[in-house]
Amino acid sequence: MDDVRKMLRNLSDAAKERGAPLDWFEDLYEFAEKDRNLIPWSKGEPHPFLVDWLGNHSEQKTGNALVVGCGLGEDAVFLAERGWSVTAFDLSASAIDWAKEMHPHPSISWEVGDLLDPHPDWIGAFDLVLEVHILQAIPESFRIPASTNLAPLVRQNGVLICIGRMNPATPIVVDGPPWPLNRSFIESIGSELKPIDFYTVQYEEEEHLRYRAVWQRS
Ligand SMILES: C[S@@+](CC[C@H](N)C(=O)[O-])C[C@H]1O[C@@H](n2cnc3c(N)ncnc32)[C@H](O)[C@@H]1O
Repeated sequence: MDDVRKMLRNLSDAAKERGAPLDWFEDLYEFAEKDRNLIPWSKGEPHPFLVDWLGNHSEQKTGNALVVGCGLGEDAVFLAERGWSVTAFDLSASAIDWAKEMHPHPSISWEVGDLLDPHPDWIGAFDLVLEVHILQAIPESFRIPASTNLAPLVRQNGVLICIGRMNPATPIVVDGPPWPLNRSFIESIGSELKPIDFYTVQYEEEEHLRYRAVWQRS
């Protein structure tokens, strides 16, 4: 395990011991003091599965997008630059301050928020809801209730895109975060919507799969 991952596990374990298992995200962003090298998921670019999906769906009109757990905001910036009006939120106030400072884009509203308790105005308000690497990063006791809050945010004809790590048919044992998700769990996220894409890839150097699942409210 490299040093950053080890530090991340230590923060996560310490937060769990304090009885606040999600607090380590804020701890990490605060500790990083705006050194991007200390945020292992921030690659400085949008997720390629998002870029690929939008590139191949020219029928997808722009509109209001909600980026859930936006971190340092690369996906939010990508959407805004393509004409979306974006609300990007994260549990961590330090992440939001940092993202806002780096990307003062007029089409992005940066907000502190919790997927476990989404703003009532967001229900049914978005043409695109994007979740990248959040559900896999939080323990199951939070993941299950958080996952049920995604689909209700999607408006008529809108889409929900979830991207992350997936277990192979025989689940692998992982001392997360992150934890690869089971396919049945991923499918349950959009159970009230119409499934329109389930894309998976297995990279040679990884035991888990990578997935992108897309649903539409029809
Ligand atoms: C692994 S990072 C991924 C960040 C970003 N989506 C990306 O791909 O770069 C998980 C993010 O989810 C945020 N997060 C965790 N739990 C959350 C919750 N309940 N509501 C909103 N954001 C949350 C964390 O603060 C963190 O920024």
